[in-house]
Formats: sequence, C-alpha cells, structure tokens
Amino acid sequence: MIEFKDFSFKYKNGEKNALSGINLKINRGDFVGVIGNSGAGKSTFTYAVNGVIPHHFEGDFYGEVIVNGKDTVESSPSELALSVGSVFQDIDGQMVASVVEDELLFGLENFGVPHQEIEKRISDILKMVGIEELRHRNISTLSGGQKQKVAISAVVALMPDILVLDEPTAELDPQSSQQIFGMLRMLNEKMGITVIVVEQKIMLLSEFSKRLLIFNEGSIFLEGSPQEVLKDTSKLLEIGVNCPRVASLANCLTDRKLYEGRVPVNIEEAEAMVGSIIKVNCQGQ
Ligand SMILES: Nc1ncnc2c1ncn2[C@@H]1O[C@H](COP(=O)(O)OP(=O)(O)OP(=O)(O)O)[C@@H](O)[C@H]1O
Ligand SMILES: [Mg+2]
Repeated sequence: MIEFKDFSFKYKNGEKNALSGINLKINRGDFVGVIGNSGAGKSTFTYAVNGVIPHHFEGDFYGEVIVNGKDTVESSPSELALSVGSVFQDIDGQMVASVVEDELLFGLENFGVPHQEIEKRISDILKMVGIEELRHRNISTLSGGQKQKVAISAVVALMPDILVLDEPTAELDPQSSQQIFGMLRMLNEKMGITVIVVEQKIMLLSEFSKRLLIFNEGSIFLEGSPQEVLKDTSKLLEIGVNCPRVASLANCLTDRKLYEGRVPVNIEEAEAMVGSIIKVNCQGQ
C-alpha cells in the first residue's frame, strides 16, 4: 500500500510548492490514472512514490510518504527500487543496453537475481507481453510502441509490487497506446501489480483505470472512479481538462432525462448508450 500524509514538496530552485497537502491511500492491486495540466505536479507525484524525491531531487519535504510500510525518506533508493518499478517519460534516457535481451539482463544482474533464475525471468516476461520475437533486436531499430514495451518489461522482470509510469504513450499512435494500456491491465490483473500511470489522454485513462486522480496546481482537484469523475464535465472544464466528448454527451443526455446509464468509457459502451436511446425513443417509428 502507498500512503501520503500531509505531503508537500518544494524543489530547491522552485518558486512555490510543486505539491501541497497531499493525503492519499493507494491500495495494493489498484490501477490509478493521473491526469492534469502541465505543471500540475504529476511527475513530482510519481517521484514521491518511487523515492526520486527526496533521494535525487533536493528541496523542502513535508509530511510522509509510506510505501509498503516504509517511509521513503528512511528507505534507501535501491530498497525502494525493489518495491517500485519506474518507467520515466524519457525512455531513451532510461534504456542502457543496445539489444533487448541485454536491457532486461542488466536490471536483473544489477539487482542480484541469481543466475539460474535470470533466463526464466527474461523468457517469461517477453512471452507474457508478447514480444519474444524482439529478444535479439537492436533497440534503436524498434518502433516507439515496441521500445515502450521493452522498457516496461525490463522493469517488470524485477518483479516490483508497484509500477509507476510517466506518460508512457506520449509519443505513440492510438493503436500502440491501447496496446500499452492493455499490457498494463494484464500486469495489474495477472500479477497483481499496482499501476500508477500519468497520461494526457483522458479517454484512454478512463477506459483502463480503476481510479482517477486529477491534479491541478499542485493539489488533487478531483478523485474517484472514472464514472464519478466523468460525471462532472463542468468541474473538469473549470481546470481546462477536456472531458471526452462521449462523456459530455452522456452527461447532457442524462440532464435531459434521455439516458440514465453509466458514462461510456469506450466505443462499445458509447454504442450501447446510443443503441439504448434509439430503442426507447424510436420504437414503432
Ligand atoms: N527540477 C525542478 N526544479 C524546480 N522546479 C521544478 C522542477 N521540476 C518541476 N518543477 C516545478 O514543479 C511544478 C510541478 O512540475 P511537474 O513536472 O511535477 O508537473 P507535471 O504535471 O508533470 O507537468 P507536465 O505535464 O508538463 O509534465 C512545476 O511548477 C514545475 O515548474
Ligand atoms: Mg510531467
């Protein structure tokens, strides 16, 4: 479990707090989507979970962040890295090897995984995420989506309880973005990994997350299930976060008493919504 207690942080060279008054619990096995405007504090939040704050960035740290029962200030970075796997926005900067297999090997050797276990870990994870055929490929020849899958696999091979990803689909097309989120869902459901993912595409986040956190100016502005959050179109617009059009449509139809089901979070649900309205309103015509 992850717990934030009255957490605030100001970067050493920052003018104001990057995050203020964060109180939050994230349970094991959750899938949390994080969204908000540029500068809202999303990356800072991920750094507080994986210990980059306070171990890498200096600044004023208030309150507590507890990860799996341990205070992040008192835990060493390597101890934290065993619990929390991180995929940073700049994956090219994160990858260290030139061949896929070596990228996974590097982390496993670094973390002291016994040699006889390493081969199984590599083949298992590559199989699980469906990229066995990339094993001997040079990373520089991979597509953005393939690279992202390799980066996530290399982290998951270390078997963390928690996976934190900062905008993993920023440079990907819609289809590859769906694939990455599908992979995250599989890791969440099959391995029980707690997923925390920062993402700008609210529709994608709503489809896959169990819980959404909307950050604004260093605070949590809204939180709840995607259903709860998307019901509040005006609140989202207030801070300039675009509500998916299909959610706005559902809210509008609900206000006009034409629809009373859940807010659709994918095309199938949107189709079902429209179908149900046509059925009720156009019978016999
Ligand atoms: N290394 C740093 N030193 C000083 N201030 C920083 C540093 N990194 C971030 N900040 C400031 O902290 C605040 C939160 O930044 P953060 O990077 O967490 O936002 P973000 O929500 O991830 O934005 P983006 O969507 O642009 O990635 C911003 O005001 C930013 O200018
Ligand atoms: Mg960021």
